[in-house]
Amino acid sequence: MAAPLVKVLHRLQELFQNVVSALETMILFPSLFRGFSPRRKKPFLGAHWRRRTLDDFAIEVENLFSAPLSTDKMIDMSKMIRSQFRDCLQNSPYCMLPSYTHALPTGLETGMYLALDVGGSTFRVALIELSGPDKEMRIVKVNSSYIDNTVKLLEGTKFFDWMANNIDTVLKEVGADYGRGEAPLSIGLSWSFPIDQTSVRSGKVIQMGKGFRCSDGTEGMDLGQLLTESCRKRDLNVEMAAIVNDSSAALLSRAYVDPKTRMSLILGTGTNMAIHFPVHEIGKDKFGTRPEGWFDYAKHVIINTEMSMFGGGVLPMTRWDDVLNRTHLRPDYQPLEYMITGRYLGEIVRLIIAEAVNTAALFGGELPHSMREPYSFDTSIVAFIEEDSSVSMAASAALLQKEHTFPSYPSVDDLRFVRRICQNVSRRSAGYLATAIHSMWCLSNEVEYPNSTKTDPLAKESPEITVVESDDADKTMTIACDGTVINKYPGFRDTCQNYLDQLAKQSHPSTSSPIRLEAAHESAILGAAVAVAVAVAESDEQR
Ligand code: GLC
Repeated sequence: MAAPLVKVLHRLQELFQNVVSALETMILFPSLFRGFSPRRKKPFLGAHWRRRTLDDFAIEVENLFSAPLSTDKMIDMSKMIRSQFRDCLQNSPYCMLPSYTHALPTGLETGMYLALDVGGSTFRVALIELSGPDKEMRIVKVNSSYIDNTVKLLEGTKFFDWMANNIDTVLKEVGADYGRGEAPLSIGLSWSFPIDQTSVRSGKVIQMGKGFRCSDGTEGMDLGQLLTESCRKRDLNVEMAAIVNDSSAALLSRAYVDPKTRMSLILGTGTNMAIHFPVHEIGKDKFGTRPEGWFDYAKHVIINTEMSMFGGGVLPMTRWDDVLNRTHLRPDYQPLEYMITGRYLGEIVRLIIAEAVNTAALFGGELPHSMREPYSFDTSIVAFIEEDSSVSMAASAALLQKEHTFPSYPSVDDLRFVRRICQNVSRRSAGYLATAIHSMWCLSNEVEYPNSTKTDPLAKESPEITVVESDDADKTMTIACDGTVINKYPGFRDTCQNYLDQLAKQSHPSTSSPIRLEAAHESAILGAAVAVAVAVAESDEQR
């Protein structure tokens, strides 16, 4: 074909795509166009956009969200995600990140430790006492500060200055000289973001998700140093003794009381898993420079998997996921996270609601002003509505009325529609999460019990993928779970557990319920303290 003709066709194709995207945006964010287009409730264009009943709309949503959740499809997706895990284990600088923590706690460690936890929406400073096997772990004091959007948008060192200010306040409450003495005060930090660890106590900042800007201008810089320098500006004499990702903190906190723990899961604002993994299965280049002899004594190491970054091109996306991703600060960065976590469930529901308002006359065809802004529909509302099984749904109506500016109370039919949407969005979240956990568990079995695996005949295109066939009851894996969605969203953990049981039954018919999800509360601060204790014990040993 002549080159100019190809160019013209490309231009036409681009033009067509632009028109389609503009129309989608007009439907989803009508307020953006209020200035130059008359308000229209009439439908336009294509099958999706024809005016329809709320029931038809709900059925479409149900079909789209439940279609990927048959056991067979989830098993296939689990295999594909496993092959992504394996690739990244060899060379990705962003995920499957080996830490320096190779030894798990014995449960005998004792002492008082200062722990910091930077989560997706709170910053906590805590004093933790570890008392060994009998009294275990105690939170002596904890102070929480909400990380609002202004704080999230603080760039670079400003965020660390904000942290130092909070640390200063708490330390003053403990004692006027606390943290100001000659000897530096050791702290453990749980960091709910990726980190390229360079020692137990240091690591380079990697791009942060969850709407944080702190990595702008600090990427590649040392996290421990950034914080201690901000503390120094306030005359605080602190030193970083251990930095752990929050997923690793969850693993460590649970391992302190149950030494068999090998995996952990976070599902709150973000999602992640950590796993105690054989060193020889990880690409050598991923370790950076390790202390002399490290590879002789470290046979396993805790990996921060950054699981949120997996599933791209594998987990089916709906048109609402697509809009969320395209309009995100970091499109495609964390595909799994954008479809399953507390930061996004509310937004997915809001996008569906916005379309239903415009095309199926939900809420009388009028989206409340307060819901026109992205991320204005909190996941806690989704959880509340889903749990409201009453006929009248009066409590949900009252909550919606309180949180948003409805011109009049939403009707019962409208509320039931919204409840159906919430159920579908959260169920898919539990299903996708179970798929990813199953995938991680299979990976662990493959590397830990290579002799009890056989090639999976279904995985023709990926012959390296295997299925474990074993009925060894000891291979039951307890996964330490923390985060508001997995531990507090009504029914979520059970739904996820059911999916996991189905998946494990299909892939490993001879074992029953081999994967158990167990809550690990307060794991970030407890785990940060345990990390310091383990680091101290290790350096004592090496002396
Ligand atoms: C995000 C972060 C990850 C963290 C997880 C859970 O996905 O990238 O580091 O562990 O959220 O908080």
